[in-house]
Amino acid sequence: GKTILVTGVASGIGRRTAELAAQMGAEVIGIDLVKPEHIVGRFIEADISSQAGVDKVIAQLPDEMDALCNVAGVSGQSGAAITLAINFFGLRALTEGLVTKLRTGASVVNVASIAGFGWKENSQRASAIAKLGGFPDANQVMKDFDIPNEAGYPISKEILLVWTMLASQQALFRSRHIRVNAVSPGPVETPILTQFRQVLGDERVDSDVDRVGRAGNAGDIAPAILFLCSDAARWINGHNLATDGGLEASLTIEQC
Ligand code: NAI
Repeated sequence: GKTILVTGVASGIGRRTAELAAQMGAEVIGIDLVKPEHIVGRFIEADISSQAGVDKVIAQLPDEMDALCNVAGVSGQSGAAITLAINFFGLRALTEGLVTKLRTGASVVNVASIAGFGWKENSQRASAIAKLGGFPDANQVMKDFDIPNEAGYPISKEILLVWTMLASQQALFRSRHIRVNAVSPGPVETPILTQFRQVLGDERVDSDVDRVGRAGNAGDIAPAILFLCSDAARWINGHNLATDGGLEASLTIEQC
């Protein structure tokens, strides 16, 4: 079987991804800030919001893993700095730090969001931040790039979408034939959606849900993540798979 590492495993999409991977015969290693109620496979408690937290978890992980599912994320409710640190800088530090622990031909899947839909308009900013070295001070990044505190979430996902493409082209990953892709959910019924409703308002979320007829559930997203992890997706690299019932198509068509 394959060994799959899943971040954000205690809740929502990460939890469902771990359960489905285990059902399909994979060995699962889960990471989260919070201990899950039901542990699937092996669990490591970790906080990926800092380089120290990332280093601590990397030291506990085995070699030759087959896939990394970067699912952990926060809503933005706690401010842009921590949101950028978890949703992007921590995710990137973990992924780059794990390159030598992933086998040749392994797969990385980044859970982005329809919230990153605006990346094309903001691609200069997104790529400039995606290219910052090390684990930057997120407060400084906010100042340098004029990021308002309430815009942390969409901007973190815009950066993640651009970095997914960037990473897929980088020698660090290419030399080991590691594919890097993204999955972008629309609104999905998990605890984070309650926070989005508080931040964005019910109308905004409901209008997205209405466009596609229903909200998603974690079981709608997990198979897309695991498909990109699988060898069936071996010729898919640097791609963003909208997994949103058609929401991205609806928003795109509106702009045509
Ligand atoms: P969730 O809130 O149910 O799960 C997120 C998990 O990440 C939690 O278990 C949490 O403890 C963990 N986490 C947060 N900070 C962490 C840290 N510093 N270190 C380690 N783990 C940490 O939310 P959900 O829906 O499962 O979200 C998963 C991903 O999907 C996130 O990246 C989110 O942005 C994305 N997403 C979710 C959507 C939704 O409507 N539910 C829509 C689009 C994207």
